[in-house]
Amino acid sequence: MCAEDGLVYYEHACTHLHAFLFLTGAVMDAMAQTQGGSRDAALQALSSSRAERHGKDKRYFDLMAYIVSNTISGEIMAVENYSEMVPIMGDTEAKIETVKQANEESKHIRMLASLGKRLDYPVKTEIVEPQWKAIRGHFSSAVKKKDLAACLIIQDLMTETMAIVLYKTLGRDTDSDTAQVAGLILSDEIEHLGIGARRIKAMLEKDPETVHDALVWAHHRVMPELFSMISTSCHSLCAELSVDCGGIGLDSIATDIEKLRVDALDAYMETLDLVGFDHKVTMPLIASMSSYGVQPKADLRLRSDAPSACSTQAGACC
Ligand SMILES: [Fe+2]
Ligand SMILES: [Fe+2]
Repeated sequence: MCAEDGLVYYEHACTHLHAFLFLTGAVMDAMAQTQGGSRDAALQALSSSRAERHGKDKRYFDLMAYIVSNTISGEIMAVENYSEMVPIMGDTEAKIETVKQANEESKHIRMLASLGKRLDYPVKTEIVEPQWKAIRGHFSSAVKKKDLAACLIIQDLMTETMAIVLYKTLGRDTDSDTAQVAGLILSDEIEHLGIGARRIKAMLEKDPETVHDALVWAHHRVMPELFSMISTSCHSLCAELSVDCGGIGLDSIATDIEKLRVDALDAYMETLDLVGFDHKVTMPLIASMSSYGVQPKADLRLRSDAPSACSTQAGACC
């Protein structure tokens, strides 16, 4: 073969190669378009099979849509709270730690939204229920008056305590995906509560009166809002999700409203004890919560239907 023949052969081969690549590209484009139409159907089928695999019915997934969406709202509020709190933190280490907390809350939003997608139920990734907006407003008021103790009490203690109760609940008697995500988030929330407890303890030692005043201020504003969300009614979230609120059944995760409210109250009392608030201040606060329609089971001192008994703290009698 002479050099000229070689060039012709080369050009011929290139022409074939271009044609092959063009055809391959065209075929792949066509396949992609065809597959695009069937991808949704395939995802739908996958989601249905997951629902079947978990042995859960529509009622269960409606409940999850409601709980997970409302939880995402709480996580969004946490991102905003932590972010707003950074400028009033006392030192750089605390600012960095708080930014990290905000970052972890933003990951929780992504994890929960992704969970809803995987299990094929709708989730809202914005704050819907008014209680979250009310708590957010109280937090902002505390920031405006540079009341760091109130900020920490609202976000690190009160909200994180409720988050822990919620994620513990989502870790029991739910599907395996939900339980796994709840477990991962729970470990972060426990850490957040620990950070808050440490911070408030240090502030209590320096200025107990101011910190107790902040607790009383925050309690009466935030706890009624948090507890009002542990109910079978919702303001507008159910309508936005197109789920039937009346049909939502907590029995599908082996719990009920009464148990959740008692668990939440007990957890709140444990948090107050953990930090070391004065019982003379906390007892009237807890007692005032009977107006929320719940009686604590852990601390019999505060039950109106029980004789005085021992404290939950280290078994010491009161
Ligand atoms: Fe979170
Ligand atoms: Fe948190």
